[in-house]
Amino acid sequence: MKKIVRFGVSMDEGLIERFDRSIKEKSYENRSEAIRDLIRKELVEEEWSLAKEIAGGITIVYDHHQRQLANRLLSIQHDFHDLIVCCQHVHLDHHNCLEVMVVKGKPEGVRELFNKLRALKGVRHIGLVKSTTGRELV
Ligand code: NI
Repeated sequence: MKKIVRFGVSMDEGLIERFDRSIKEKSYENRSEAIRDLIRKELVEEEWSLAKEIAGGITIVYDHHQRQLANRLLSIQHDFHDLIVCCQHVHLDHHNCLEVMVVKGKPEGVRELFNKLRALKGVRHIGLVKSTTGRELV
């Protein structure tokens, strides 16, 4: 069983009052879980900056009627086949498609993939969720 460590933190009263309001809105039951999540978020950012193996998601919304876009998108996905774990395509309406790609690998590869997709003409929105393989997080 993992050992739990308690520690005290000193801060300005106004800051902790604001933090308490913020975590209440997010439905945290106590400060400890909110602070643990903040620490994990920081550590995941560090994983992305230290070129470790990361996991995440890319969402992309585009008009499939845009000339050549679907072909270019497919071609880029094949170039990065070692990074893309899976891909889900949703036909949102007559024009718009949503694709969700789960990615795992080196962060620089994921960034390169993201930038190539973002540069495609006809992309209406693209998002990147920086997550983790979870191996180094408790
Ligand atoms: Ni579609």
